Amino acid sequence: MTTRYTSIFLLVSFSLVAIALAGNFNQDFDITWGNGRGKILNNDQLLTLSLDQNSGSGFQSRNEYLYGKIDMQLKLVPGNSAGTVTAYYLSSQGPTHDEIDFEFLGNISGDPYTLHTNVFTQGKGNREMQFKLWFDPTNDFHTYSILWNPRHVIFMVDNVPLRDYKNLESKGISFPKNQPMRIYSSLWNADDWATRGGLVKTDWSQAPFTASYRNFNANACVWSSGSTNCPAMKTNVAGDNWFNQELDSTSQERMRWVQRNYMIYNYCADAKRFPQGLPPECSLA
Ligand SMILES: *[C@@H]1O[C@H](CO)[C@@H](O)[C@H](O)[C@H]1NC(C)=O
Repeated sequence: MTTRYTSIFLLVSFSLVAIALAGNFNQDFDITWGNGRGKILNNDQLLTLSLDQNSGSGFQSRNEYLYGKIDMQLKLVPGNSAGTVTAYYLSSQGPTHDEIDFEFLGNISGDPYTLHTNVFTQGKGNREMQFKLWFDPTNDFHTYSILWNPRHVIFMVDNVPLRDYKNLESKGISFPKNQPMRIYSSLWNADDWATRGGLVKTDWSQAPFTASYRNFNANACVWSSGSTNCPAMKTNVAGDNWFNQELDSTSQERMRWVQRNYMIYNYCADAKRFPQGLPPECSLA
């Protein structure tokens, strides 16, 4: 570490370097399980995961990130996907880990997927919000983004914000900001709970089930050997300053539209589940 970095970052004992990555699956990801069921194809442009009765599969990023705007295009398991779950998330490690989750719960043909989201801080989740989508996520690729900066965790689909978990540390609510996270994804069988609470089982005659990924892009601070490397220019190709980005009034209006029309579960509206009172962020967000 250079003294220049040391003097710039007095409070943090790590250095910062610029990274902006364009999709390159072999360089950025390892297929970690599934015994050949995860594949990188088409000259590195496409990654697929598959699931059959013997196993699912998964991959993870080589890098760990501490803040970033992370985009991935996914095309979900088509047809009768009931019982399958495609998880796509950021997570740190250990018992007090932080985690930012997208999970796609399959359904029988023609019935809508459920997009499940959650935020864990210091090992505690219980912040589920679920949505239906305004398109069929199996017909084509759509962009699923996590914007994670010091003040917000914002979930977006095709640039439309679904939810905004704000940094309310000043009110005593924890926020993910110290633990670097990797990107993980997996396709697995969860027919004990996923579809209509486990009533609909996976139809193995349809196997293998396949989900596809392309156009990964991370404008992110990369963690390496105890240091974090942030882009000097914290803007993405569109010129958005992701590190300081917040939802402007148009985006807030769009988020309200999604939540009014497509949200099917909100932990902040589930008073029965929290008899001692809703989590504190619910009245502050
Ligand atoms: C599947 O479709 C049914 C009927 O529309 C719906 O109630 C359910 O929430 C959908 N999603 C899952 C994951 O079961």
